[in-house]
Amino acid sequence: MNFPAYRPRRLRNSETMRRLVRETTLTTDDLILPLFITYGKDKKIEIKSMPGHYQLSVDKLEAEAKEIASLGIPGVILFGIPEHKDEVGSSAFDADGPVQSAIKAIKDAAPDIMVMTDVCMCEYTSHGHCGIIKNQDVDNDSTLELLAREALSHAEAGADLVAPSDMMDGRVGAIRTALDTSGFDHIPLMSYAAKYSSAFYGPFRDAAESVPQFGDRRTYQMDPANTNEAMREVALDIEEGADIVMVKPALPYLDIIRRIKEQFEYPTAAYNVSGEFSMLKAAEAKGWMDGERSMMESLLSIKRAGADIIITYFSKEAARVLGR
Ligand code: PBG
Repeated sequence: MNFPAYRPRRLRNSETMRRLVRETTLTTDDLILPLFITYGKDKKIEIKSMPGHYQLSVDKLEAEAKEIASLGIPGVILFGIPEHKDEVGSSAFDADGPVQSAIKAIKDAAPDIMVMTDVCMCEYTSHGHCGIIKNQDVDNDSTLELLAREALSHAEAGADLVAPSDMMDGRVGAIRTALDTSGFDHIPLMSYAAKYSSAFYGPFRDAAESVPQFGDRRTYQMDPANTNEAMREVALDIEEGADIVMVKPALPYLDIIRRIKEQFEYPTAAYNVSGEFSMLKAAEAKGWMDGERSMMESLLSIKRAGADIIITYFSKEAARVLGR
């Protein structure tokens, strides 16, 4: 393999040739779209830091679901913005809450869309943390019971899959047991297994109104410096019953996606989070980068790193490009 006998440019000399030797293919089948569901009626509230995204009330979901289905996007993941928040996030398991009602609305409008739900307390607690507070920190074991109730209420409302994002120890097992003992042993569980404490969640916390009112999430989300710890988190979640494991964020953690995929050979999801979306949108708005190309390159890199599923705010735009 020496120049001049080998000339790599020969395999790049036309689009047809490049298509033949292309190693990675991104398809619409890989994409999941996050949706923010708010309480009340007739609401479509723009999320300023996330162009093209809105907090939607349940009555707006019929049109939304039909559009998503027509684009061929296989699934959505739901986040709720409740009317009432309290210390223990009781709205999280309200059978008539935004997420629970949204599941039914989406299923009615487009039965084939896979409806996934994010299971976490931070959107529902008055302090914005992902569980019950004791001594200025989230108490692990008492939070597990709430997460299990929340997951169960999503399953009862018709969710196709539940996805715990709280990072409490033992939550996968607690949720699995709650589902299995209530007739939901067929509902898969996708765990946010390696979820890092990241600045890239900034725009999301505005969108979901879940900014912590004191402190930060570093006592439960992972330290960005750690790789081996991610392997232990994934191993634990698989042992406790996770069917799909997730890495989050995606772009700053492509090495983690790759290592998890290679080590565990499990269905692996990656969350291309709000900040990863917003930074490209901002650069595009300033005329600093080509928005479409930087979007497609980002998504392709996540796939190339080993992700089977990409949760991304770009889902609709990418599906349109892929469908051309
Ligand atoms: C809930 C949750 C968060 C995100 C998904 N689920 C925020 C957080 O942990 O603060 C972030 C998603 C995004 O930034 O797009 N815990």
